[in-house]
Amino acid sequence: MRLVLGKIDVLGPSIRRFTLSPVSGVLPVAGAGAHVVLEIPGPGRVWKNAYSIVSTPSSASYEIIVRRVEHSRGGSAWLHDHARVGDVLEVQAPQNLFPPSRTSRRHLLLSAGIGITPFLSYLHVPGLSFEWHHCGKAEDAAAFAALLPETVTLHTGRNTLNLAALLAAQKLDTHLSLCGPESFMDFALAAAEHAGWPGQKIHKESFGGATGGAPFIVHLRRSGQSIHVGAEESLLDAMEAAGLVPPCLCRGGACGECKLPVLEGVVEHHDHYLSSSERAANDAIMTCVSRARTTEITLDF
Ligand code: FES
Repeated sequence: MRLVLGKIDVLGPSIRRFTLSPVSGVLPVAGAGAHVVLEIPGPGRVWKNAYSIVSTPSSASYEIIVRRVEHSRGGSAWLHDHARVGDVLEVQAPQNLFPPSRTSRRHLLLSAGIGITPFLSYLHVPGLSFEWHHCGKAEDAAAFAALLPETVTLHTGRNTLNLAALLAAQKLDTHLSLCGPESFMDFALAAAEHAGWPGQKIHKESFGGATGGAPFIVHLRRSGQSIHVGAEESLLDAMEAAGLVPPCLCRGGACGECKLPVLEGVVEHHDHYLSSSERAANDAIMTCVSRARTTEITLDF
């Protein structure tokens, strides 16, 4: 889809809301939890970043909220520093990998940082029963508080969030939904596991995408290509830049779509899809966020 940037709202020092409208026709309906992938122009390449849609499903436009990442790989920096009203962007049709669980009567929502965004769309679901705790930086508190109903509890960092007590206080028919950067997801998932929450009652979406790391070479056994993955790009980005079309959906390490078999080399896992035993097996990699721990890695692709 080609969407035009109709409005840019400054919500905080590093947070902006972007309104995207169709150049022609009408937008596909995007339910609570849906995201779009924006194709963002950069020097010598195109960044593909996933953003939650926070507008109501009946809206004629999509709204997304973007935090300017401190060490941006390109996408959020371009949107904050270069995007102008009237710019036209290529946007992939919305996907919904994180709808509120229909089998749950109650929802415990835990978010951190820009992980607030998918749950903003949950506010549009009539009658949804939820308890929501959000952890954020002090500098973002005013911006986020303005977007949230008073029932949401805001925490500055994680110090005031007693997760063990919160999890223990939930009724048996509660499902837990998590969204935030990698460190928050690790923290919350470890607490839920420790408290004995079954996996089928935990739903997660990760935000922040790939964080970069040491460069490495990926050898693709079936295509016969060898590709250099730079320090500031993900394995998925590098494969796409080489003209390949590897599978992917969320681009955040949560959906499992980009999983590829590993034939040689050691994986540095950053996803929240594989179990600890699957990680230890070292036979699969999520290309959107994970990297090679070795200087070279060979994949069955
Ligand atoms: S694209 Fe979803 S886990 Fe990689």
